[in-house]
Amino acid sequence: MHVPEITVGELILRPLKEKDAAGLFRLFSNDQVTRYMDIDSFRNITEAMQIITHFQERQEADDGFRLGITLAASGELVGTCGYHKWNKPHYKAEIGYDLLPEYWGKGIMTVAVGALVDYGFQEMALHRIEAFVDPLNTASSRLLGRLGFNREGLLRDAFFEKGVFVDAEIYSLLRADHEREYIW
Ligand SMILES: CC(C)(COP(=O)(O)OP(=O)(O)OC[C@H]1O[C@@H](n2cnc3c(N)ncnc32)[C@H](O)[C@@H]1OP(=O)(O)O)[C@@H](O)C(=O)NCCC(=O)NCCS
Repeated sequence: MHVPEITVGELILRPLKEKDAAGLFRLFSNDQVTRYMDIDSFRNITEAMQIITHFQERQEADDGFRLGITLAASGELVGTCGYHKWNKPHYKAEIGYDLLPEYWGKGIMTVAVGALVDYGFQEMALHRIEAFVDPLNTASSRLLGRLGFNREGLLRDAFFEKGVFVDAEIYSLLRADHEREYIW
């Protein structure tokens, strides 16, 4: 599938390449980043190279895409965001995102995910965007609330992460919700 490059505010969201392995290792070796994610923190750079291949395979399978979030001024890779489980017959996909802790609370992901949501409705013809969030992940819940997502309920023991079953809150944003809130 075509993987977009999106310039928004001070950010450039772009496809991940082999040269991003060190940046992705910095991100996904941080326990604060992976705490509520369904991956263990990386221990070596090989895992970063493997996840780039995984993202590329996902793109080739038309299942979605993951973009690197970079600072336009310096080119620094500070996070990632993207869609997965793109279900074309039902016009829906899941959204995901992560950011280096030193950049939390500055509005970066509000900008990045906001742009990704616009792209999903405008270019992927999505009708529904879903997000699954650990109930303890306050930052992620607040981010989704700020972007107009609705909390639909709690899925019990929905994922097996780091040796335990964890609940997940399910959030959604419908095209109609988005059209009500924003003028593109
Ligand atoms: C979730 C995450 C992407 C938020 O990114 P961010 O750029 O810091 O978010 P923003 O600055 O745009 O702020 C969005 C909201 O989150 C809140 N927030 C940000 N960091 C927070 C923190 N550490 N604790 C509590 N709330 C926080 C902000 O206050 C804001 O809410 P508000 O408008 O109600 O005040 C980031 O915390 C992160 O990468 N976490 C680790 C990875 C992860 O959990 N990904 C999501 C898996 S579902």
